[in-house]
Amino acid sequence: MHNILVTGASGFIGRWLSPALTQQGHNVFALLRQPERITELRQQCAARGGVAEHLQALAGDLTLPRLGMQSTPALSHIYHLGAQFAWGLSPAQARACNVNGALAAVELAAEHGAWLILVGGFMTENTAYLAELGINRQHPEQTDWARVYRATGAYEASKLEGYFRAQALANAKGVAFTGVNPATVCGHSQHGSLDAQQPLAQLIDNLAQGRLRGIPGNAAHWLPLVSVDALAQLLAHLSQLSPAQVPPTLLALDPTSPNLTTLLGWLADDLQVPAPRHFVPLPLLRALLRIKPLARALATDPEGLAFIRPERLTDASDSTTAFMQQHSLSWPPLRLCVERSAQHYMQGSTGRSLSSASPC
Ligand SMILES: NC(=O)c1ccc[n+]([C@@H]2O[C@H](COP(=O)([O-])OP(=O)(O)OC[C@H]3O[C@@H](n4cnc5c(N)ncnc54)[C@H](OP(=O)(O)O)[C@@H]3O)[C@@H](O)[C@H]2O)c1
Repeated sequence: MHNILVTGASGFIGRWLSPALTQQGHNVFALLRQPERITELRQQCAARGGVAEHLQALAGDLTLPRLGMQSTPALSHIYHLGAQFAWGLSPAQARACNVNGALAAVELAAEHGAWLILVGGFMTENTAYLAELGINRQHPEQTDWARVYRATGAYEASKLEGYFRAQALANAKGVAFTGVNPATVCGHSQHGSLDAQQPLAQLIDNLAQGRLRGIPGNAAHWLPLVSVDALAQLLAHLSQLSPAQVPPTLLALDPTSPNLTTLLGWLADDLQVPAPRHFVPLPLLRALLRIKPLARALATDPEGLAFIRPERLTDASDSTTAFMQQHSLSWPPLRLCVERSAQHYMQGSTGRSLSSASPC
């Protein structure tokens, strides 16, 4: 049994990870800006098969020194999921949470001799994309970050900066570090539950409301996916291993994810709406979305387009698949996860209420 700090425990992924960790007998300390939310989180933890008594709140804030925590119990693991996850942030806002929070998590791990499991994003594994942006992964201090922020928008840039600077700091301090880099997260494999703020839910909403008339990019572009429960299981499984048994990075991405054309076709069938048929080149779409009223009318932010790419990331994906097979883990059938996510949307049950005792 370990003492585990989870940042972002109240978020979409964290609300599935904490139950899975408590189920394994660990004490989970949720870093919360509003610690009074622990009552609702415990109810949800129990409804999701976890052990509510093993979940406790620690008041804190990722934007504050030492994560804003007064005192902490001895920790063996830190799962760092917390992030300001939104488009249109200023670089200062995004950095305050997503870069400073990641660096503070490394400092805390160093203090406790804890293993830091940091949740980045799948673009962290896309070497062609990183090269385009001029990111120096080994020496992130040599990167022109202002240029990266201009190119991608603040959320994505701050995630990349936070990830590579945290990794470099962990190496310098001798902190055990594992990066888990998820694809875009889709709904739960059993019941499709997906928060309305999640990027895939926004894509589904745009398609359902007739705002998505073209296919961004071309036939080579995809938006790789991973289901939230399988991701939570993979993350939780790491707590049963030692850092030496785990590759330094894991790419949490279902390799059976289809191209965007097929994904939109699946969703259109599920939502019973026409599928978009014509491609819209990404540079043109980006230029159009710079016209603010148009972006508002289409409910689409150009920042979200950064995740639609042609690279298949096969090497990183194969090595994670091999690790998962070795540990009897697998991705649930993706077509079903997508269908259930669409059904969940249609039932009108997207939303981020913590008050419900139902697992969704
Ligand atoms: N979902 C995806 O498709 C996806 C894909 C790749 C990577 N990721 C990464 O996975 C992680 C979790 O994503 P998610 O989808 O679960 O995000 P989410 O639902 O937006 O949750 C974000 C979490 O971060 C917490 N947080 C934000 N600002 C904070 C602050 N200043 N201090 C303390 N906590 C703060 C939030 O707490 P409150 O409840 O107080 O707001 C919430 O618990 C993020 O690092 C994200 O970048 C997500």
